[in-house]
Amino acid sequence: MQDKERESTYKEYLQVLKECSPYDFSEYSDNSIDRRIQKVMQDYNLDMGGLIHKTKTNPQFVEQVVEAITVNTTELFRDPEVWNYLRVKLLPGFKNRPKINIWHAGCSSGQEVYSLMVLLDHLNLLDRCEIFATDISKKALESAKTGQYRYSYNYGKYLENFKASFDEDKAPDFDKYFKADEANDTISVNPDFLKKVKFVKHDLVKGELPFYNRVDLLFCRNVLIYFNSNLQAKIVQRLHDRLFPGGSLILGSHETISGFLNTKFTKKGPVYTRSDAFHFKY
Ligand SMILES: C[S@@+](CC[C@H](N)C(=O)[O-])C[C@H]1O[C@@H](n2cnc3c(N)ncnc32)[C@H](O)[C@@H]1O
Repeated sequence: MQDKERESTYKEYLQVLKECSPYDFSEYSDNSIDRRIQKVMQDYNLDMGGLIHKTKTNPQFVEQVVEAITVNTTELFRDPEVWNYLRVKLLPGFKNRPKINIWHAGCSSGQEVYSLMVLLDHLNLLDRCEIFATDISKKALESAKTGQYRYSYNYGKYLENFKASFDEDKAPDFDKYFKADEANDTISVNPDFLKKVKFVKHDLVKGELPFYNRVDLLFCRNVLIYFNSNLQAKIVQRLHDRLFPGGSLILGSHETISGFLNTKFTKKGPVYTRSDAFHFKY
C-alpha cells in the first residue's frame, strides 16, 4: 500500500473511532500514530476491517487502542532547568498566598506531579495546595496513584537531575520523599504525597472538566506536541480560561504558544503568565 493510501486509511479509522467511542484522535499530528495503529492490528492479528469491527463492538478494546495511541514517557524532574526556574523564580512568589490551586493536565504516571510536590514541600507551600492531575490514559493514572516506579529507570536520573536543580542551596532530604528499594528495583513516593493528589481520568480534547476550580499553576507539558495546530489552539484557549488572571502555564520545552493566543500571555523563562489587564491581588 502506498504511504498516502495508508495514511488515508488510518485517518478513516480515527474517524470511525471518533464516531463510535468518546475518543477523538483525528486532530493528533503525531506522525507515528499510524505505526501505533498498525501495531494494534499486529498484536491482535486484525486487518483494517477486523480492527473497525472490534472497535465498534468492544468498548474494552477501545481502551486498549487509547493506551496504544498515547505516549506516556515521563520522568522525575524532567528538564531540570525548568524545575530550577520554578523553585527560584516562581514558587517563592506564592509564600503569602493562603491557597494554591494546581492542575497537571496530561500527568502520565505522576512523576511530574511528585517532582513539584517535593519543591512545594521544600518551600513550605504544600499544605496550602489543592492538586488535580488528569490524563486520558487509565493505565498511566493507575501507576500514578501507586507512586511506585522502577528504581533502575528513575532513581539514577532523578538524583542527577535533582542535584542539578539545587545547585545554589541545600537540597531537601531525599529520603523524606522517596523510599528506595534497590533489591526490588522500586522507589516509592511518600504515602502522604499520594493522598494529597486527586488523579482523575480526563480527555483534554473534550471541553468539560472534572473539577470547577480555576487554577494558579497549570502544567501541560509534552502533550500539545501530539496535536495539530488547530487542536493546540483550542486547548491553549481552554487552559487559558482555566487559569486565574496572573496564573501560570508551564508547557514542555519544545512547545510554544503562537499567533493570536500569544497576546493572552506574557512569557518569562519557561512560564506563560495569563496577562489580563486585571490581576487578582493576593
Ligand atoms: C509524553 S506524556 C507527558 C507527561 C508529563 N506531562 C511530562 O511532561 O513528563 C503525554 C501524556 O499526555 C496524555 N494525553 C495524550 N492525549 C491526551 C488527551 N487528549 N487528554 C489528556 N491527556 C492526554 C498521554 O496519555 C500521556 O500520558
